[in-house]
Amino acid sequence: MKIAVLPGDGIGTEIVAEAVKVLNALELPLELESALVGGAAYEVHGHPLPDATLKLAKEADAVLFGAVGDWKYDKLDRPLRPEQAILGLRKNLGLFANFRPAICYEQLVGASSLKPDLIAGLDILIIRELTGDIYFGQPRGRRIATDGNFPGTEEAFDTMRYSRPEIERIAHVAFQAARKRSRRVTSVDKANVLETFQFWREIVTEVGMQYPDVALDHMYVDNAAMQLVRAPKKFDVLVTGNMFGDILSDEAAMLTGSIGMLPSASLNSSNQGLYEPSHGSAPDIAGKGIANPLATILSAAMMLRFSLNQEEAAQRVETAVKTVLARGLRTADIFSPGTTQVSTVEMGTAVVKAL
Ligand code: IPM
Ligand code: MG
Repeated sequence: MKIAVLPGDGIGTEIVAEAVKVLNALELPLELESALVGGAAYEVHGHPLPDATLKLAKEADAVLFGAVGDWKYDKLDRPLRPEQAILGLRKNLGLFANFRPAICYEQLVGASSLKPDLIAGLDILIIRELTGDIYFGQPRGRRIATDGNFPGTEEAFDTMRYSRPEIERIAHVAFQAARKRSRRVTSVDKANVLETFQFWREIVTEVGMQYPDVALDHMYVDNAAMQLVRAPKKFDVLVTGNMFGDILSDEAAMLTGSIGMLPSASLNSSNQGLYEPSHGSAPDIAGKGIANPLATILSAAMMLRFSLNQEEAAQRVETAVKTVLARGLRTADIFSPGTTQVSTVEMGTAVVKAL
């Protein structure tokens, strides 16, 4: 089983190192190979996603990804920015289905900014379409406006678009995931304003007819953003487009009070996947040894489950993480009085020991 390890920037290198430690401790026939990505790759190769890195990722069964980005690249042209690495990997590997669970760990209820009873036991799954929408729609660019509010002036534009097969396949993913949970799907759109999302709603409804055992409802994205902070436990599976999914998944992650704990998986149609923590590269704390490696370790567990077919090993890792939390070990982001603060490396070592 071949794994491409792409640590990236900021805290990426520190947290991925701990996940690698955990993978190595499993004594499975895993072949790990690392490469540069994001700003780190730009520094050395002048491009955030060098050909060799893309090739390694394509040939692997799975990609373990840290995070990319740093303020120091803010002035770069868009094609050279670190973010293009993750977008390029998603597009080139066809990773259209993004799973972003938001789970509130019992021991971390107090870390949320919401009242404990609103989020205790929270377990929702956001399924975000990842290779379409306004992120990738063409045409895009800049030009002199010929119409609009200020004709004759400079303007920029992006195109929001979804094709029928793109919507159908992500809808199937959502309904199938719901079958393994409480059989409820909320499709999030903006059908009251956008043609693209009127189309989205129609097609999700059509696909839903093939899943009579799963309850489907539709919600506008602004309302969904509100319901997520009002009564998040009312949701089970949320399915939405690339842009809305980007925003709502950050919101949902923070509800749990523990963005440092949340893994994610991005899969293509042959179950090849990229696994990364839901959080970013956090340049403000990079190199300090205080980042929480658990989201990356849990992403490695998802990788074992979805792409490598190692359910038992996945569960071992997840149980080890719970054990470590139950022992009261906490990195700074989830620390509370009465628990023991540990470094990134100490946390990784504790998970290995629990294994
Ligand atoms: C995410 C990130 C990316 C996105 C960025 C880094 C391009 O915010 O994975 O949610 O917008 O998809
Ligand atoms: Mg995001």
